[in-house]
Amino acid sequence: MTSRPVIDDLSSFWMPFTANRQFKAAPRLIEGAKGMYYRATDGREILDACAGLWCVNAGHCRDEIVAAIQQQAATLDFAPTFQMGHPLAFEAASKVAAIMPDGLDRIFFTNSGSESVDTALKIALAYHRARGEGQRTRLIGRERGYHGVGFGGISVGGIAPNRKAFSGALLPSVDHLPHTHAPEHNAFTKGQPTWGAHLADELERIVALHDPSTIAAVIVEPLAGSTGVLVPPQGYLQKLREICTKHGILLIFDEVITGFGRLGKPFGSQKLGVLPDLFTTAKGMTNGAVPMGAVFVRDSIYEAFMQGPDGIELFHGYTYSGHPLACAAGIGTLDTYQEEGLLERATSLEKHWEDAIHSLKGAPNVIDIRNIGLMGAIEFAPKPGAPGSRGYNALVKCFEAGVLTRYTADTLAFSPPLIVQKTQIDQIFEMVGKVLKTLD
Ligand SMILES: Cc1ncc(COP(=O)(O)O)c(C=O)c1O
Repeated sequence: MTSRPVIDDLSSFWMPFTANRQFKAAPRLIEGAKGMYYRATDGREILDACAGLWCVNAGHCRDEIVAAIQQQAATLDFAPTFQMGHPLAFEAASKVAAIMPDGLDRIFFTNSGSESVDTALKIALAYHRARGEGQRTRLIGRERGYHGVGFGGISVGGIAPNRKAFSGALLPSVDHLPHTHAPEHNAFTKGQPTWGAHLADELERIVALHDPSTIAAVIVEPLAGSTGVLVPPQGYLQKLREICTKHGILLIFDEVITGFGRLGKPFGSQKLGVLPDLFTTAKGMTNGAVPMGAVFVRDSIYEAFMQGPDGIELFHGYTYSGHPLACAAGIGTLDTYQEEGLLERATSLEKHWEDAIHSLKGAPNVIDIRNIGLMGAIEFAPKPGAPGSRGYNALVKCFEAGVLTRYTADTLAFSPPLIVQKTQIDQIFEMVGKVLKTLD
């Protein structure tokens, strides 16, 4: 395939979560993709070790998904879902409901993870109010949690730089659990650490402080992804579940990354053995091909909204909730996942993946390696006086070497498309291993 000329004006696009000046001085531009590979504008193939941005679970430019989007664009480009409907939105919801854990099959469509999070928080507040417990307004998140960039998401989120500039305008009535990262106890753990379940007991302390009757919901990622792949300690999520149930608090799992096969089951909650009351998704729902997210809600929550007088039950929604192109992409994606067994495939690769990533134990500056399903992270000791620089340099050098990774501070994260072959897993960590030897 011939390359198009590289654009030479990079000034207008204000890039998200990017050091714009650094990037524009030395851009990394991608112009094509197929299967496990990106193609850079200089013609190089880049092995995708993070499914784009944790979303391209079936690999890039899959024919069935491409065809579904193309056909839909020519058939019904847009239809409102406010007081109107189009069949594909109902079909997409029913199809995805069929793979949901039992009883969690009412679906509110959004366009992103951030919108899913804010939608879930609003449903939680409105649910309590609908049941006559409108005083339950407090939300509990967790330190180091990432729940997108809406005001709700950054308020319950716990990544300090994402909150700092907006700290005067965050939601009131939010508290945070402690994070679970404890390398002094858990460094180089394979799978779920055995140390740390007691950190969930902090929820009892927070509940006692504010009084249970004021708390609407607890929201956590079952596995904290963006902050650097923090695998939950054994028993931790079970404790959160028990405490929430005891006090009538809704438990929300943010499965924007762990949804759609990342951990070897359709949803992370199924792998980790704990069911929430609501969960949020996006990313892998459409294989990243068209923006779409969704909130999955217990039947009993949906039914609580259906008891009042006739009329709109929830004053919430997006122009593009259930957009036809996104629904077509979502159906094509789900069909592909199911035909190829991708929602379970991580289970059969988990051991190989684990051995490959942990083979880098002992590489220069590596202070922790962690993994579960087809996810993993390598953490570096911060460079004195320049925290985060090793992570950033590793990302840049990996790209130059031909592998796309993701970094947060001094951690490199990995989450390849679920079609990855064992030989490609080996290649990823061989290339990364070489890069680590060159990092200062
Ligand atoms: C757990 C979690 N929630 C929410 C989001 C936000 O998703 P989006 O960027 O689609 O708004 C992300 C994105 O990485 C995420 O990992």
